[in-house]
Amino acid sequence: MAAPSPPDLCPAACLTAVRLIEIAPATWSVLIPMMSMDKPTILVTGGAGYIGSHAVLALEAAGYPVVILDSLEYGHPELVKQHLKAELIVGSTRDRALLDDLLSRHNIGAVMHFAAYIAVGESVSAPAEYYHNNVVGTLTLLEAMLAADIKRFVFSSTCAIYGPPKTLPIPEDHPKNPISPYAASKLMVEQMLQDFDQAYGLKSVAFRYFNAAGADPEGRLGEDHQPETHLIPLVLMAALGRRDNIAIFGTDYPTPDGTCIRDYIHVSDLASAHVRGIDYLLAGGDSAFINLGNGNGFSVREVIETARQVTGRPIAVVERDRRPGDPPSLVGSGDRARDLLNWHPQYPDLESIIAHAWQWHLMRHGPQN
Ligand code: UFG
Repeated sequence: MAAPSPPDLCPAACLTAVRLIEIAPATWSVLIPMMSMDKPTILVTGGAGYIGSHAVLALEAAGYPVVILDSLEYGHPELVKQHLKAELIVGSTRDRALLDDLLSRHNIGAVMHFAAYIAVGESVSAPAEYYHNNVVGTLTLLEAMLAADIKRFVFSSTCAIYGPPKTLPIPEDHPKNPISPYAASKLMVEQMLQDFDQAYGLKSVAFRYFNAAGADPEGRLGEDHQPETHLIPLVLMAALGRRDNIAIFGTDYPTPDGTCIRDYIHVSDLASAHVRGIDYLLAGGDSAFINLGNGNGFSVREVIETARQVTGRPIAVVERDRRPGDPPSLVGSGDRARDLLNWHPQYPDLESIIAHAWQWHLMRHGPQN
């Protein structure tokens, strides 16, 4: 897909703003809620999950009405109820009848698609489930969208599609070499999106996340996977005393301290990029694939040391063999997100990411040690 030229991000909103300048300030308080009422409803699949729920929070703060579709295999309905305004519809993206009904009842302007299985290791042992949920589910959703004439789509992709990097930081045109069914399932959807744009004019933004981490700075939402496999929540579980220690998977990598380097990106920054992605598409932006990372890498040891400082608690470490499939370093280039969406992460530092995650863990699990 050719890189699109920078778009006019919000022509309708800008025109309204220009008109507002000509109107007495006293009238603004009446008009501004009307502007947000004009925003179309966004369907968010997987909106009861970790990244999806933060995106719903950000969409609602930006004035978008939201409807959530979530199977609740992994989602948290109590968090939707407590902190989000959106209606929650329980069901699968593979249920075409449900999708047709949902899309006919709500005036959906665009779809944000998070619902997917995400465990890389599990995808190796259960590829059929991954292709079914992640590929067939997305195809069913896209077909239902086309039938309802909805042609704006934001997709959760992953930097895992690049495979072991040949250059760092990784640009979007880096060769794609997925080494797990999970990553392959995401790349297949990206291919579908290119073909659907060409054939049906369906415009999409596929965001390739690096390592999503952190939690809502106000403590309303956070990460709670069952089972948990991600480094930062596991390190914080060790700080809480819910685990004896944290295992470092591999200390002999070709990195300065021998442990793997990842580009951790705050989940609220991911969420704000998604709102910009929707704004961009609704303003007529062309399809794009966009990395979402900070462009900074931190090693496993640096993450653990920062967590010790942020929490003020001891965190015991055991050194283990490498985990199969882990590349030594993954760091993304953020140039396209900056150029196309004018997106700048608000919490690029590891301390904030871990501090917000820690606040969430303390509230979710209590301060035990
Ligand atoms: N790690 C440990 N000990 C643990 C858990 C993880 O040392 O107990 C290490 C891993 O080996 C890796 C790093 O910490 O080097 C980060 O591991 P995560 O499991 O937190 O994240 P991954 O980088 O493996 O994967 C995540 C998402 C994927 C996504 C990928 C993109 O889970 O969905 O980022 O980089 F594809």
